[in-house]
Amino acid sequence: TGRCVVAVDGPSGSGKSTVSRRLAIDLGARYLDTGAMYRAITWAVLRSGVDLADPSAVAKVAGETDLRIGTDPEGHSVTVDGVHVEAEIRGPEVTGAVSAVAAVPAVRSLLVTRQRDLAAAGRIVIEGRDIGAVVVPHADLKVYLTASPATRAARRSAEDATDVGATAADLARRDRLDSTRKADPLVQAPDAVVLDTTEIGIDQVVARLRELLAERG
Ligand code: C5P
Repeated sequence: TGRCVVAVDGPSGSGKSTVSRRLAIDLGARYLDTGAMYRAITWAVLRSGVDLADPSAVAKVAGETDLRIGTDPEGHSVTVDGVHVEAEIRGPEVTGAVSAVAAVPAVRSLLVTRQRDLAAAGRIVIEGRDIGAVVVPHADLKVYLTASPATRAARRSAEDATDVGATAADLARRDRLDSTRKADPLVQAPDAVVLDTTEIGIDQVVARLRELLAERG
């Protein structure tokens, strides 16, 4: 029950959130959804009305936003300046704008600092895009989840009740933006364990990660 940090990275629809939450519950650890942090800042940016293409204006809004995020894997709250935004940050406006906001280096350094502070406090599963490579390079276990594009789109459209074709196009667009941006792109850390979740179920993925953690003592 000492310090234990698990980094889970991968694209949208790879099963990251479900796996990370389940693993955290099983380990009695906290859980941090870093995508929700970028989404919450994006919500604040959209509300402010500043131009998304103006990085310094976006960074200014991010710096003035009071973002709070819970780390309970069984249900975490996200508030922006005291407003509950759990539902709104999953909506199409935020999803359409988040990759632009997440590409602003000043936004990333602000959130990465907060993520490192949360990780320093002990047992936690952190999910995102740059967790193993940038946020906690000394994580006890780094995992990179993937799945076929068709599987990822099907999972996302089932979650959001949206059209699978439109979802596939949106995932392809965000993958391209997230993996080609200059600041901390989505990358596979060289020492990450890669698991393809196309054919294997959540239970098996979680069981495999617990085995790997046990092997590492
Ligand atoms: O995981 P989720 O789909 O909620 O992430 C939303 C967006 O936030 C991603 O498409 C990406 O642009 C950004 N993100 C990021 N770095 C992270 C987590 C999310 O850039 N660690």
